[in-house]
Amino acid sequence: MKTLKSIQVVIAAVVVSIFFMSNQKYSETIITKISDSDSTTFTIPANIQTIIDKSCVMCHTTESKNFKGKTKLNFDKMINGSYSINKIASKLRKIDKVVMIKKNMPTKKFLKNYPDKAISDTDRKTLSEWALNENKKIKATQE
Ligand code: HEC
Repeated sequence: MKTLKSIQVVIAAVVVSIFFMSNQKYSETIITKISDSDSTTFTIPANIQTIIDKSCVMCHTTESKNFKGKTKLNFDKMINGSYSINKIASKLRKIDKVVMIKKNMPTKKFLKNYPDKAISDTDRKTLSEWALNENKKIKATQE
């Protein structure tokens, strides 16, 4: 019986750490080299990761259950080389559009169900400025 108890404890510990890991998707600064011939990098700094973790990852990563959301924008693919440079640039521009201009992300329904995951106006601005700036950086390497 004693072994069974300790196995249960181990399983509980694993479950708890997986839970925390999945909630802390982008807890480190992610820097992806845009191309081999250029040293310019695409960066998701910690403050941006925090915003994305809180308000976007539920629908925009490979593990997300929102099929439409993750098909349209997948942050995992944005940083692991699956998206082309042009696609990254285009998604960055769209992030500014949906977060700052249309203000339709996160979706209304999501905000109703998870009011604690709402994005503040300051965070909208921070996210959109980051997106536009990274977009500019990529465009500059292509001239
Ligand atoms: C509840 C799920 C959900 C959350 C949370 C969410 N999105 Fe979305 N997002 C979607 C869906 C669904 C679409 C596709 C909408 C459509 O095409 O009708 C989408 C589309 C987008 C697009 C357009 C991509 C394209 O190529 O057209 C961008 C950019 C985007 N989301 C950014 C964000 C950002 C940034 C956040 C966080 C601040 C966020 N989303 C939070 C579900 C979500």
